[in-house]
Amino acid sequence: MENILKNLTIEEKLGQLTMIAPFFYIGDLKKEVFGALTELKLDEEKIFLTGSVLGIQNHKEMNLVQKTYLERSRHKIPLIFMGDVIHGAVTIMPTPLAQACSFNPKLVKKGAQESAKEAMKKGLQVTFSPMSDLVRDPRWGRVNESFGEDPYLNYVFSYATVKGYKSEGLLSCVKHFAAYGLSEAGKDYNTVDLSRLNLFSYFLSGYEGAIRAGADLVMTAFNTFEYVPATTNKYLLKDVLRKKLKFKGVTISDYDSLLQTIKHRSSLNECDAALKGITAGLDIEMASSSYMRCLKDEVKKNPELLKLIDKAVLRVLKLKEKAGLFKDPYRKKDLELNTLKALKTSYDLASESIVLLKNETLPLNKKTKISLLGKYVSEKHVLGPWSWHGDPNKTDELSKHIKAYYKNDSEVFEDYDIEAIKKSNHIVLAIGETREESGEAHSKANIDIKEHHQVLIKKLSELNIPITLVLYTGRPLVITNIVPFVNNILVHFHLGSKTSKVVSDTLYGKNNPSGRLSMTFPKHLGQVPIYYNHLSSGRPYSKTDPYTMKYIDISNEPLYEFGYGLSYSKFKYSNLEITNKEATLNNLPTIKVTVTNESNIKGKTSILLYIKDDFASIARPVKELKQFKKITLKPYESKVVEFKIRKEDLSFYNEKLKKVIEKGTFTVYIEDLFTKFSLE
Ligand code: GLC
Repeated sequence: MENILKNLTIEEKLGQLTMIAPFFYIGDLKKEVFGALTELKLDEEKIFLTGSVLGIQNHKEMNLVQKTYLERSRHKIPLIFMGDVIHGAVTIMPTPLAQACSFNPKLVKKGAQESAKEAMKKGLQVTFSPMSDLVRDPRWGRVNESFGEDPYLNYVFSYATVKGYKSEGLLSCVKHFAAYGLSEAGKDYNTVDLSRLNLFSYFLSGYEGAIRAGADLVMTAFNTFEYVPATTNKYLLKDVLRKKLKFKGVTISDYDSLLQTIKHRSSLNECDAALKGITAGLDIEMASSSYMRCLKDEVKKNPELLKLIDKAVLRVLKLKEKAGLFKDPYRKKDLELNTLKALKTSYDLASESIVLLKNETLPLNKKTKISLLGKYVSEKHVLGPWSWHGDPNKTDELSKHIKAYYKNDSEVFEDYDIEAIKKSNHIVLAIGETREESGEAHSKANIDIKEHHQVLIKKLSELNIPITLVLYTGRPLVITNIVPFVNNILVHFHLGSKTSKVVSDTLYGKNNPSGRLSMTFPKHLGQVPIYYNHLSSGRPYSKTDPYTMKYIDISNEPLYEFGYGLSYSKFKYSNLEITNKEATLNNLPTIKVTVTNESNIKGKTSILLYIKDDFASIARPVKELKQFKKITLKPYESKVVEFKIRKEDLSFYNEKLKKVIEKGTFTVYIEDLFTKFSLE
């Protein structure tokens, strides 16, 4: 690649650091130009110097763009095509927030493998996934794209997702670096402000998992960090990303996030933004062209810049080499897809991503005369945000799969006629958020379940017919008011192509739910941000002492905490044992717990191991998820599950940002059981 680099003109080098939409190469493509791209300010000659493409509809178009480009290119460096396959390209998997509820990294990896094949068939070499932003505020619309509030889950699922893409040959771009999920007040694109200690302790975890798994690019976030936009933030891009996380791949801005530094009012103009970007370590500028229009003159003023430009271009050339583009610029065009396999994977992953929050009378049986009510009884678009080429017309309605459980339709009523409903002996209410209510630029100030849904539920409850609420939502909602009026609650964060079959199979017990919440459900919006791994504070709540941490109008407890989820089976945890209560770093204990299925229903369950560092040089969370294992138990079967405590389970960043393990006692929790050990 060094030989190619040295033969490039400065214009050609800067072209390699620029990403635009495919439309500019071949005008008759489906126009995908919006925002900053509409003021690209590049003439045709410059357009044919650019190096990477944002989004493409299919392989045929990709070939056409590539061919047209290479015919006009002096240097013959192929274009690289990148796009947003976040949870599936054509076969849509559950959204990442839903996938995280599965606590099943193997399945998440399989989902990524299937998505990778379809993405490459669409002509992509890179996907802008995983989104590894830790989240704590359900008002933010993009919680749906994340793996939730826990740093360990973010690490594990980001790692599994990248490994899944990589195993099929798809390159990946982890985003949004860094801490975009902390957008103030849950308002998208808003200020982010956190300490370096908080960043290191919680918010870096997901990106680190992706990088450890081999993510090829890192996308910078729209937000500031320490008042400097992430896209031009030298501390983030050099000290943290390159030095601390040892990332050697390509950095890319988010959509015109380099020019947005002018609106942040930390760049004076486009050329100032370009200079700040290349100096901070930004390689590719997405959807704007300040590098191409400004840096040639900047190099004349300061030749040192050329070294930075060359390093960035070399990283891009190596990325294209890794993508196999120099060998075959039209790669994977003959890739055969197995859509049935992809759909099966989507079903399996979704069946472990749905969460049972309340259960008095499920599962239903085929003799149950039911009334099917709510938008999602017949809604076909159940794919969630960022479902790219997923075709809602190819998904089934819930009513179709529910009716399949009955010999004839007379047992299933689908209207709001109270008299008709009275003839049924169970009401299934499938309601919630539409896919347009979450995702990018879709934050909400009010996350209550809709008022008219609350009224409907209370009215239906007067009929004294059992009600099952199936909640479709892109985020945790405040559903506190309706819980007493329904008998059963199933929730999911949009499950993708097989949503309707998974919901119906769960209602009738063919699927025994095993999901656990990846994000806390608040009791009231006023509790937000609310997350499980919080600090104790100097005045932790006490019933007896009024001067302790609390609200005077509501309890501190959430409605449903991170990790909560029920099953149709009845699991009992007992005999929590520890091999040694006195431990050293070379002799850390093993924890054993017996899990028994006390029901006649086979089921899966995830055993979550939390640790509390009882005392340390800085305040530490009340508990932290450190390991988990998912097992299946036959009726009345018991298994002993073991966890070997690891050094990484005990380490934390101290006030000097140094990762340390300190002596002292640790408490280990599994469900309601706990034990302690001391570390000498
Ligand atoms: C969007 C999103 C980012 C996405 C990019 C390219 O604005 O912030 O997640 O990958 O632009 O579509």
